[in-house]
Amino acid sequence: MDFPRILSGNWETPNSHTLPVARSLGVYGRLEKALRMQPTEIVQVVKDSGLRGRGGAGFPTGMKWSFVPGPDKRGGKPVYLLCNADESEPGTFKDRYCMWKDPHLMIEGMIIAAHAIGCKVGYVYIRGEFRYIYDRLWEAVHEARAAGLLGNNILGTGVDFELHIHLGAGAYICGEETALISSLEGFKGQPKLKPPFPAVEGAWRAPTIVNNVETLSAVPWIIEHGAAAYKALGTEKSPGTKLFSCSGHIRKPGVYEVALGYPMKDLIEKECGGLLPGRTMKAVIPGGSSVPIMTPAEVYACTMDYESISTVAGSYLGSGGMIVMDDTTDLVAALANLLRFYAHESCGQCTPCREGCGWMYHILCRVRDNCATAEDLVTLKDLADNIHSKTICFFGASAAMPVQSFLLKFKADFIARIEAASKGIASGTHIAPPSPATVGA
Ligand SMILES: Cc1cc2nc3c(=O)[nH]c(=O)nc-3n(C[C@H](O)[C@H](O)[C@H](O)COP(=O)(O)O)c2cc1C
Ligand code: SF4
Repeated sequence: MDFPRILSGNWETPNSHTLPVARSLGVYGRLEKALRMQPTEIVQVVKDSGLRGRGGAGFPTGMKWSFVPGPDKRGGKPVYLLCNADESEPGTFKDRYCMWKDPHLMIEGMIIAAHAIGCKVGYVYIRGEFRYIYDRLWEAVHEARAAGLLGNNILGTGVDFELHIHLGAGAYICGEETALISSLEGFKGQPKLKPPFPAVEGAWRAPTIVNNVETLSAVPWIIEHGAAAYKALGTEKSPGTKLFSCSGHIRKPGVYEVALGYPMKDLIEKECGGLLPGRTMKAVIPGGSSVPIMTPAEVYACTMDYESISTVAGSYLGSGGMIVMDDTTDLVAALANLLRFYAHESCGQCTPCREGCGWMYHILCRVRDNCATAEDLVTLKDLADNIHSKTICFFGASAAMPVQSFLLKFKADFIARIEAASKGIASGTHIAPPSPATVGA
Protein backbone atom coordinates (compact mmCIF):
# COMPACT_ATOMS: atom_id res chain seq x y z
CA MET A 1 0.00 0.00 0.00
CA ASP A 2 1.40 3.38 -1.02
CA PHE A 3 0.60 6.42 1.12
CA PRO A 4 2.30 9.59 2.33
CA ARG A 5 3.68 9.67 5.85
CA ILE A 6 1.72 12.71 6.95
CA LEU A 7 2.61 12.49 10.64
CA SER A 8 5.89 10.63 10.87
CA GLY A 9 7.58 11.69 7.60
CA ASN A 10 10.10 13.97 9.37
CA TRP A 11 10.98 11.68 12.27
CA GLU A 12 14.15 10.19 10.80
CA THR A 13 15.73 13.55 9.95
CA PRO A 14 18.32 14.52 12.58
CA ASN A 15 17.24 17.49 14.72
CA SER A 16 13.76 17.51 13.20
CA HIS A 17 12.55 19.04 16.47
CA THR A 18 14.44 22.29 15.90
CA LEU A 19 12.87 25.19 14.03
CA PRO A 20 15.44 25.54 11.19
CA VAL A 21 15.29 21.82 10.36
CA ALA A 22 11.50 21.67 10.74
CA ARG A 23 11.12 24.64 8.38
CA SER A 24 13.49 23.05 5.85
CA LEU A 25 11.15 20.04 5.90
CA GLY A 26 8.11 22.20 5.12
CA VAL A 27 6.71 22.72 8.62
CA TYR A 28 5.00 26.14 8.94
CA GLY A 29 4.93 26.23 5.10
CA ARG A 30 1.13 26.03 5.15
CA LEU A 31 0.62 28.53 7.93
CA GLU A 32 0.38 31.79 6.01
CA LYS A 33 -2.05 30.26 3.51
CA ALA A 34 -4.23 28.99 6.38
CA LEU A 35 -4.16 32.26 8.30
CA ARG A 36 -5.30 34.15 5.19
CA MET A 37 -8.27 31.77 4.81
CA GLN A 38 -11.61 32.55 6.45
CA PRO A 39 -12.08 30.52 9.67
CA THR A 40 -15.29 28.97 8.30
CA GLU A 41 -13.38 27.91 5.19
CA ILE A 42 -10.82 25.99 7.29
CA VAL A 43 -13.58 24.30 9.29
CA GLN A 44 -15.23 23.25 6.01
CA VAL A 45 -11.96 21.84 4.58
CA VAL A 46 -11.35 19.79 7.75
CA LYS A 47 -14.99 18.63 7.70
CA ASP A 48 -14.70 17.61 4.04
CA SER A 49 -11.43 15.77 4.72
CA GLY A 50 -13.27 13.42 7.08
CA LEU A 51 -10.50 13.72 9.72
CA ARG A 52 -11.60 11.97 12.92
CA GLY A 53 -10.17 12.57 16.37
CA ARG A 54 -7.21 10.33 17.17
CA GLY A 55 -7.56 10.51 20.96
CA GLY A 56 -9.80 7.45 21.05
CA ALA A 57 -13.40 8.28 20.23
CA GLY A 58 -12.90 9.03 16.52
CA PHE A 59 -15.27 12.00 16.55
CA PRO A 60 -15.20 14.08 13.31
CA THR A 61 -12.85 16.99 13.95
CA GLY A 62 -14.39 19.59 11.63
CA MET A 63 -17.82 18.91 13.08
CA LYS A 64 -16.50 19.38 16.62
CA TRP A 65 -14.97 22.72 15.62
CA SER A 66 -18.27 23.83 14.11
CA PHE A 67 -20.00 23.44 17.52
CA VAL A 68 -18.14 26.49 18.89
CA PRO A 69 -20.72 29.29 19.12
CA GLY A 70 -20.05 32.28 16.85
CA PRO A 71 -18.74 35.59 18.34
CA ASP A 72 -22.27 37.02 18.61
CA LYS A 73 -23.43 34.00 20.70
CA ARG A 74 -20.54 33.81 23.18
CA GLY A 75 -21.44 36.75 25.40
CA GLY A 76 -17.93 38.16 25.08
CA LYS A 77 -16.27 34.95 26.26
CA PRO A 78 -13.00 33.83 24.66
CA VAL A 79 -12.51 30.46 22.94
CA TYR A 80 -9.82 28.05 24.11
CA LEU A 81 -7.95 25.33 22.25
CA LEU A 82 -6.50 22.54 24.38
CA CYS A 83 -4.14 19.99 22.97
CA ASN A 84 -4.57 16.72 24.82
CA ALA A 85 -1.03 15.39 25.33
CA ASP A 86 -1.84 13.34 28.41
CA GLU A 87 -1.32 9.98 26.65
CA SER A 88 -1.59 7.55 29.55
CA GLU A 89 -3.62 4.72 28.00
CA PRO A 90 -1.65 1.48 28.50
CA GLY A 91 -0.27 0.35 25.14
CA THR A 92 -0.37 3.83 23.58
CA PHE A 93 2.86 5.73 22.95
CA LYS A 94 2.45 7.65 19.67
CA ASP A 95 1.81 11.22 20.85
CA ARG A 96 5.08 11.34 22.74
CA TYR A 97 6.88 10.57 19.43
CA CYS A 98 4.97 13.34 17.62
CA MET A 99 6.02 15.84 20.27
CA TRP A 100 9.57 14.56 20.62
CA LYS A 101 10.35 14.26 16.91
CA ASP A 102 8.18 16.96 15.33
CA PRO A 103 6.84 19.42 17.93
CA HIS A 104 6.59 22.24 15.39
CA LEU A 105 4.15 20.24 13.24
CA MET A 106 1.79 20.02 16.22
CA ILE A 107 2.24 23.73 16.95
CA GLU A 108 1.51 24.58 13.30
CA GLY A 109 -1.64 22.45 13.54
CA MET A 110 -2.66 24.23 16.72
CA ILE A 111 -2.22 27.69 15.21
CA ILE A 112 -4.37 26.72 12.21
CA ALA A 113 -7.01 25.10 14.44
CA ALA A 114 -7.05 28.16 16.70
CA HIS A 115 -7.64 30.46 13.73
CA ALA A 116 -10.48 28.20 12.57
CA ILE A 117 -12.33 28.39 15.89
CA GLY A 118 -11.58 32.03 16.76
CA CYS A 119 -9.18 31.24 19.60
CA LYS A 120 -6.36 33.51 20.76
CA VAL A 121 -4.97 31.42 23.65
CA GLY A 122 -4.23 27.71 23.65
CA TYR A 123 -2.70 25.16 26.00
CA VAL A 124 -0.88 21.89 25.61
CA TYR A 125 -1.84 19.71 28.59
CA ILE A 126 1.02 17.26 28.81
CA ARG A 127 1.34 14.16 30.99
CA GLY A 128 3.33 14.69 34.18
CA GLU A 129 5.79 11.89 33.37
CA PHE A 130 6.72 13.63 30.09
CA ARG A 131 8.90 16.23 31.77
CA TYR A 132 11.65 15.67 29.18
CA ILE A 133 9.19 16.31 26.35
CA TYR A 134 7.83 19.35 28.17
CA ASP A 135 11.33 20.86 28.06
CA ARG A 136 11.60 20.23 24.32
CA LEU A 137 8.12 21.63 23.67
CA TRP A 138 8.94 24.69 25.72
CA GLU A 139 12.00 25.31 23.55
CA ALA A 140 9.92 24.83 20.40
CA VAL A 141 7.31 27.34 21.59
CA HIS A 142 10.03 29.89 22.33
CA GLU A 143 11.68 29.32 18.94
CA ALA A 144 8.32 29.79 17.23
CA ARG A 145 7.54 32.93 19.22
CA ALA A 146 10.95 34.45 18.44
CA ALA A 147 10.36 33.77 14.73
CA GLY A 148 6.97 35.53 14.74
CA LEU A 149 5.06 32.26 14.37
CA LEU A 150 3.31 32.70 17.73
CA GLY A 151 2.15 35.83 19.47
CA ASN A 152 0.62 38.90 17.86
CA ASN A 153 0.13 39.43 14.13
CA ILE A 154 1.54 36.05 13.07
CA LEU A 155 3.43 36.34 9.75
CA GLY A 156 1.82 39.75 9.24
CA THR A 157 -1.64 38.23 8.79
CA GLY A 158 -3.25 40.06 11.70
CA VAL A 159 -3.92 36.73 13.50
CA ASP A 160 -2.90 36.47 17.18
CA PHE A 161 -2.31 33.21 19.05
CA GLU A 162 -0.43 32.55 22.28
CA LEU A 163 0.44 29.05 23.42
CA HIS A 164 1.14 27.78 26.95
CA ILE A 165 2.26 24.36 28.13
CA HIS A 166 0.80 22.84 31.27
CA LEU A 167 2.41 19.81 32.91
CA GLY A 168 -0.06 17.39 34.54
CA ALA A 169 0.61 15.35 37.65
CA GLY A 170 0.43 11.82 36.26
CA ALA A 171 -3.24 10.87 36.63
CA TYR A 172 -4.66 8.78 33.77
CA ILE A 173 -8.11 10.29 34.22
CA CYS A 174 -6.77 13.75 33.32
CA GLY A 175 -6.73 12.57 29.67
CA GLU A 176 -10.55 12.60 29.77
CA GLU A 177 -11.40 16.01 28.37
CA THR A 178 -13.56 17.40 31.20
CA ALA A 179 -11.09 16.15 33.83
CA LEU A 180 -8.29 17.72 31.81
CA ILE A 181 -10.14 21.03 31.86
CA SER A 182 -10.71 20.86 35.64
CA SER A 183 -7.05 20.04 36.20
CA LEU A 184 -5.94 22.90 33.94
CA GLU A 185 -8.17 25.27 35.91
CA GLY A 186 -6.39 24.21 39.10
CA PHE A 187 -9.11 21.93 40.47
CA LYS A 188 -9.06 18.19 41.15
CA GLY A 189 -8.81 16.34 37.83
CA GLN A 190 -12.27 14.77 37.90
CA PRO A 191 -14.64 14.34 34.95
CA LYS A 192 -17.95 16.18 34.69
CA LEU A 193 -21.25 15.01 33.27
CA LYS A 194 -21.88 16.08 29.67
CA PRO A 195 -23.74 18.11 28.41
CA PRO A 196 -22.67 20.85 28.42
CA PHE A 197 -19.94 19.74 26.04
CA PRO A 198 -16.63 21.63 26.21
CA ALA A 199 -17.16 23.13 22.74
CA VAL A 200 -20.02 25.12 24.29
CA GLU A 201 -18.89 25.40 27.92
CA GLY A 202 -15.39 24.22 28.76
CA ALA A 203 -12.35 25.85 30.36
CA TRP A 204 -13.34 28.73 32.64
CA ARG A 205 -16.92 28.15 31.32
CA ALA A 206 -15.90 29.39 27.87
CA PRO A 207 -16.18 27.46 24.58
CA THR A 208 -13.23 25.04 24.43
CA ILE A 209 -12.02 22.59 21.83
CA VAL A 210 -9.99 19.63 23.09
CA ASN A 211 -8.05 17.76 20.42
CA ASN A 212 -5.45 15.04 20.52
CA VAL A 213 -1.81 15.67 19.50
CA GLU A 214 -2.07 13.41 16.44
CA THR A 215 -5.34 15.00 15.30
CA LEU A 216 -3.82 18.48 15.35
CA SER A 217 -0.62 17.29 13.65
CA ALA A 218 -2.66 16.09 10.65
CA VAL A 219 -4.24 19.49 10.01
CA PRO A 220 -1.34 21.24 8.14
CA TRP A 221 -1.18 18.44 5.52
CA ILE A 222 -4.91 18.74 4.92
CA ILE A 223 -4.58 22.51 4.37
CA GLU A 224 -1.65 22.01 1.97
CA HIS A 225 -3.07 19.15 -0.08
CA GLY A 226 -6.81 19.70 0.30
CA ALA A 227 -9.68 17.70 1.69
CA ALA A 228 -10.03 15.46 -1.36
CA ALA A 229 -6.39 14.30 -1.17
CA TYR A 230 -6.82 13.35 2.49
CA LYS A 231 -10.13 11.63 1.84
CA ALA A 232 -8.53 9.64 -0.96
CA LEU A 233 -6.39 7.91 1.68
CA GLY A 234 -7.84 5.23 3.92
CA THR A 235 -11.48 4.14 3.68
CA GLU A 236 -14.72 5.97 2.95
CA LYS A 237 -15.63 6.40 6.62
CA SER A 238 -12.12 6.33 8.08
CA PRO A 239 -10.02 8.56 5.83
CA GLY A 240 -6.36 9.46 6.19
CA THR A 241 -3.40 7.83 7.87
CA LYS A 242 -3.02 6.87 11.51
CA LEU A 243 -0.19 6.16 13.92
CA PHE A 244 -0.29 2.76 15.58
CA SER A 245 1.65 2.07 18.78
CA CYS A 246 2.59 -1.60 18.41
CA SER A 247 3.86 -3.61 21.36
CA GLY A 248 3.88 -7.07 22.86
CA HIS A 249 5.22 -10.30 21.42
CA ILE A 250 6.34 -8.94 18.05
CA ARG A 251 9.80 -8.69 16.56
CA LYS A 252 9.78 -4.94 15.88
CA PRO A 253 7.73 -3.02 18.42
CA GLY A 254 7.31 0.67 17.59
CA VAL A 255 5.08 3.38 16.17
CA TYR A 256 3.99 2.84 12.56
CA GLU A 257 2.00 5.13 10.30
CA VAL A 258 -0.29 3.42 7.82
CA ALA A 259 -3.38 4.43 5.87
CA LEU A 260 -6.57 3.48 7.67
CA GLY A 261 -8.05 0.33 6.22
CA TYR A 262 -4.66 -1.42 6.30
CA PRO A 263 -5.01 -5.16 7.04
CA MET A 264 -4.23 -5.89 10.69
CA LYS A 265 -2.43 -9.06 9.66
CA ASP A 266 -0.07 -7.02 7.43
CA LEU A 267 0.60 -4.52 10.20
CA ILE A 268 1.66 -7.38 12.46
CA GLU A 269 3.55 -9.41 9.88
CA LYS A 270 5.11 -6.67 7.72
CA GLU A 271 5.63 -3.50 9.80
CA CYS A 272 6.04 -5.32 13.14
CA GLY A 273 8.12 -8.16 11.66
CA GLY A 274 5.69 -10.88 12.80
CA LEU A 275 5.50 -12.81 16.05
CA LEU A 276 8.53 -13.93 18.01
CA PRO A 277 10.16 -17.11 16.58
CA GLY A 278 8.24 -20.33 17.23
CA ARG A 279 5.20 -18.65 18.75
CA THR A 280 1.56 -18.55 17.71
CA MET A 281 -0.93 -15.77 18.25
CA LYS A 282 -3.16 -15.93 21.29
CA ALA A 283 -4.94 -12.56 21.23
CA VAL A 284 -4.63 -8.89 20.29
CA ILE A 285 -5.86 -5.75 22.00
CA PRO A 286 -6.28 -3.37 19.04
CA GLY A 287 -6.81 0.12 20.45
CA GLY A 288 -5.27 0.60 23.88
CA SER A 289 -6.07 -1.34 27.03
CA SER A 290 -9.65 -0.06 27.31
CA VAL A 291 -11.07 -1.80 24.24
CA PRO A 292 -12.37 -5.38 23.90
CA ILE A 293 -9.78 -8.06 23.12
CA MET A 294 -9.70 -9.88 19.76
CA THR A 295 -9.17 -13.53 18.84
CA PRO A 296 -6.68 -14.55 16.08
CA ALA A 297 -9.58 -15.29 13.71
CA GLU A 298 -10.88 -11.75 14.20
CA VAL A 299 -7.38 -10.31 13.73
CA TYR A 300 -6.95 -12.05 10.37
CA ALA A 301 -10.36 -10.79 9.17
CA CYS A 302 -9.89 -7.17 10.24
CA THR A 303 -8.56 -3.99 8.73
CA MET A 304 -7.26 -1.12 10.86
CA ASP A 305 -10.14 1.32 10.71
CA TYR A 306 -13.01 2.34 12.95
CA GLU A 307 -15.70 0.33 11.13
CA SER A 308 -13.94 -2.99 10.50
CA ILE A 309 -12.73 -3.48 14.07
CA SER A 310 -16.21 -2.72 15.35
CA THR A 311 -18.18 -4.91 12.94
CA VAL A 312 -15.78 -7.86 12.76
CA ALA A 313 -14.64 -8.00 16.39
CA GLY A 314 -17.03 -5.83 18.41
CA SER A 315 -14.01 -3.82 19.48
CA TYR A 316 -12.64 -0.33 18.80
CA LEU A 317 -9.72 1.29 17.02
CA GLY A 318 -9.44 3.57 20.08
CA SER A 319 -6.10 5.31 20.34
CA GLY A 320 -4.41 2.75 18.06
CA GLY A 321 -2.40 1.04 20.80
CA MET A 322 -2.07 -2.52 19.50
CA ILE A 323 -0.85 -5.10 22.04
CA VAL A 324 -0.02 -8.49 20.51
CA MET A 325 -0.04 -11.50 22.85
CA ASP A 326 1.28 -14.91 21.88
CA ASP A 327 0.64 -18.42 23.19
CA THR A 328 2.96 -17.89 26.17
CA THR A 329 0.62 -15.24 27.59
CA ASP A 330 -1.29 -15.91 30.78
CA LEU A 331 -4.45 -13.99 29.88
CA VAL A 332 -5.86 -14.23 33.41
CA ALA A 333 -2.72 -12.63 34.83
CA ALA A 334 -2.74 -10.04 32.03
CA LEU A 335 -6.33 -9.06 32.85
CA ALA A 336 -5.58 -8.89 36.58
CA ASN A 337 -2.67 -6.59 35.78
CA LEU A 338 -4.93 -4.34 33.68
CA LEU A 339 -7.53 -4.15 36.42
CA ARG A 340 -4.86 -3.20 38.92
CA PHE A 341 -4.29 -0.15 36.74
CA TYR A 342 -7.99 0.78 36.54
CA ALA A 343 -8.55 0.22 40.27
CA HIS A 344 -5.65 2.54 40.98
CA GLU A 345 -6.64 5.23 38.46
CA SER A 346 -10.41 5.51 39.15
CA CYS A 347 -11.03 9.09 40.28
CA GLY A 348 -13.53 7.78 42.83
CA GLN A 349 -16.55 9.97 42.04
CA CYS A 350 -18.92 7.17 40.91
CA THR A 351 -19.65 4.26 43.23
CA PRO A 352 -19.79 1.57 40.49
CA CYS A 353 -16.37 2.57 39.19
CA ARG A 354 -14.67 3.30 42.51
CA GLU A 355 -15.85 0.13 44.25
CA GLY A 356 -16.30 -2.09 41.20
CA CYS A 357 -12.80 -1.69 39.78
CA GLY A 358 -11.27 -2.64 43.12
CA TRP A 359 -13.53 -5.66 43.44
CA MET A 360 -12.87 -6.82 39.88
CA TYR A 361 -9.14 -6.65 40.58
CA HIS A 362 -9.61 -8.47 43.87
CA ILE A 363 -11.54 -11.32 42.23
CA LEU A 364 -9.11 -11.53 39.31
CA CYS A 365 -6.21 -11.94 41.73
CA ARG A 366 -8.04 -14.92 43.23
CA VAL A 367 -8.69 -16.44 39.79
CA ARG A 368 -5.08 -15.89 38.78
CA ASP A 369 -3.84 -17.52 41.98
CA ASN A 370 -6.11 -20.59 41.65
CA CYS A 371 -8.14 -19.55 44.68
CA ALA A 372 -11.48 -18.74 43.01
CA THR A 373 -14.80 -20.56 42.56
CA ALA A 374 -17.17 -20.68 39.60
CA GLU A 375 -19.39 -18.23 41.46
CA ASP A 376 -16.55 -15.69 41.41
CA LEU A 377 -16.68 -15.63 37.61
CA VAL A 378 -20.43 -14.91 37.74
CA THR A 379 -19.79 -12.07 40.20
CA LEU A 380 -16.97 -10.74 38.01
CA LYS A 381 -19.21 -10.53 34.96
CA ASP A 382 -22.02 -9.05 37.02
CA LEU A 383 -19.69 -6.33 38.30
CA ALA A 384 -18.46 -5.46 34.81
CA ASP A 385 -22.03 -5.34 33.44
CA ASN A 386 -23.06 -3.01 36.24
CA ILE A 387 -20.17 -0.61 35.75
CA HIS A 388 -20.47 -0.23 31.97
CA SER A 389 -22.60 2.83 31.02
CA LYS A 390 -23.50 3.60 34.64
CA THR A 391 -20.84 6.18 35.40
CA ILE A 392 -20.09 9.86 34.81
CA CYS A 393 -17.33 9.24 32.29
CA PHE A 394 -16.20 6.52 29.92
CA PHE A 395 -13.51 5.28 32.31
CA GLY A 396 -16.05 2.88 33.83
CA ALA A 397 -16.73 1.27 30.46
CA SER A 398 -13.00 1.25 29.75
CA ALA A 399 -12.44 -0.92 32.80
CA ALA A 400 -15.49 -3.10 32.20
CA MET A 401 -14.95 -3.90 28.50
CA PRO A 402 -11.67 -5.80 28.91
CA VAL A 403 -13.29 -7.96 31.61
CA GLN A 404 -16.43 -8.62 29.57
CA SER A 405 -14.52 -9.45 26.41
CA PHE A 406 -11.82 -11.64 28.04
CA LEU A 407 -14.58 -13.64 29.75
CA LEU A 408 -16.58 -13.94 26.54
CA LYS A 409 -13.76 -14.82 24.14
CA PHE A 410 -11.30 -16.66 26.38
CA LYS A 411 -13.61 -18.25 28.92
CA ALA A 412 -11.68 -21.54 28.83
CA ASP A 413 -8.61 -19.85 30.35
CA PHE A 414 -10.67 -18.72 33.33
CA ILE A 415 -12.51 -22.04 33.73
CA ALA A 416 -9.14 -23.85 33.76
CA ARG A 417 -8.11 -21.76 36.80
CA ILE A 418 -11.36 -22.53 38.61
CA GLU A 419 -10.87 -26.26 37.93
CA ALA A 420 -7.28 -26.06 39.15
CA ALA A 421 -8.53 -24.37 42.30
CA SER A 422 -11.15 -27.08 42.89
CA LYS A 423 -8.43 -29.74 42.58
CA GLY A 424 -6.18 -27.86 45.00
CA ILE A 425 -3.50 -27.19 42.36
CA ALA A 426 -1.43 -24.21 43.48
CA SER A 427 -0.64 -21.52 40.93
CA GLY A 428 3.03 -21.06 40.02
CA THR A 429 3.16 -17.54 41.35
CA HIS A 430 0.91 -17.15 44.31
CA ILE A 431 0.50 -13.54 45.29
CA ALA A 432 -1.83 -12.85 48.19
CA PRO A 433 -4.89 -10.95 46.94
CA PRO A 434 -4.90 -7.42 48.27
CA SER A 435 -7.80 -6.00 50.17
CA PRO A 436 -9.89 -3.79 47.82
CA ALA A 437 -9.47 -0.95 50.25
CA THR A 438 -5.72 -0.90 49.69
CA VAL A 439 -5.81 -1.06 45.90
CA GLY A 440 -5.94 2.67 45.27
CA ALA A 441 -3.70 3.56 48.19
C1 LIG B 1 -10.41 7.76 30.78
C2 LIG B 1 -10.11 8.50 29.52
C3 LIG B 1 -8.80 8.83 29.22
C4 LIG B 1 -8.50 9.54 28.06
N1 LIG B 1 -7.20 9.82 27.77
C5 LIG B 1 -6.90 10.51 26.64
C6 LIG B 1 -5.55 10.87 26.34
O1 LIG B 1 -4.62 10.55 27.10
N2 LIG B 1 -5.30 11.55 25.21
C7 LIG B 1 -6.32 11.94 24.35
O2 LIG B 1 -6.06 12.59 23.35
N3 LIG B 1 -7.60 11.61 24.60
C8 LIG B 1 -7.91 10.93 25.74
N4 LIG B 1 -9.22 10.64 26.00
C9 LIG B 1 -10.25 11.15 25.07
C10 LIG B 1 -10.58 12.62 25.38
O3 LIG B 1 -11.60 12.66 26.38
C11 LIG B 1 -11.08 13.38 24.14
O4 LIG B 1 -12.10 12.64 23.55
C12 LIG B 1 -9.99 13.62 23.10
O5 LIG B 1 -8.87 14.27 23.65
C13 LIG B 1 -10.56 14.49 21.99
O6 LIG B 1 -9.60 14.70 21.01
P1 LIG B 1 -9.80 14.16 19.52
O7 LIG B 1 -11.20 14.56 19.10
O8 LIG B 1 -8.76 14.85 18.72
O9 LIG B 1 -9.66 12.69 19.57
C14 LIG B 1 -9.55 9.93 27.16
C15 LIG B 1 -10.87 9.58 27.46
C16 LIG B 1 -11.15 8.87 28.63
C17 LIG B 1 -12.57 8.51 28.93
S1 SF4 C 1 -16.29 6.61 35.83
FE1 SF4 C 1 -14.62 6.38 37.31
S2 SF4 C 1 -13.06 7.79 36.58
FE2 SF4 C 1 -14.99 8.41 35.55
S3 SF4 C 1 -15.89 9.95 36.87
FE3 SF4 C 1 -16.70 8.00 37.55
S4 SF4 C 1 -15.31 7.32 39.21
FE4 SF4 C 1 -14.28 8.93 38.06
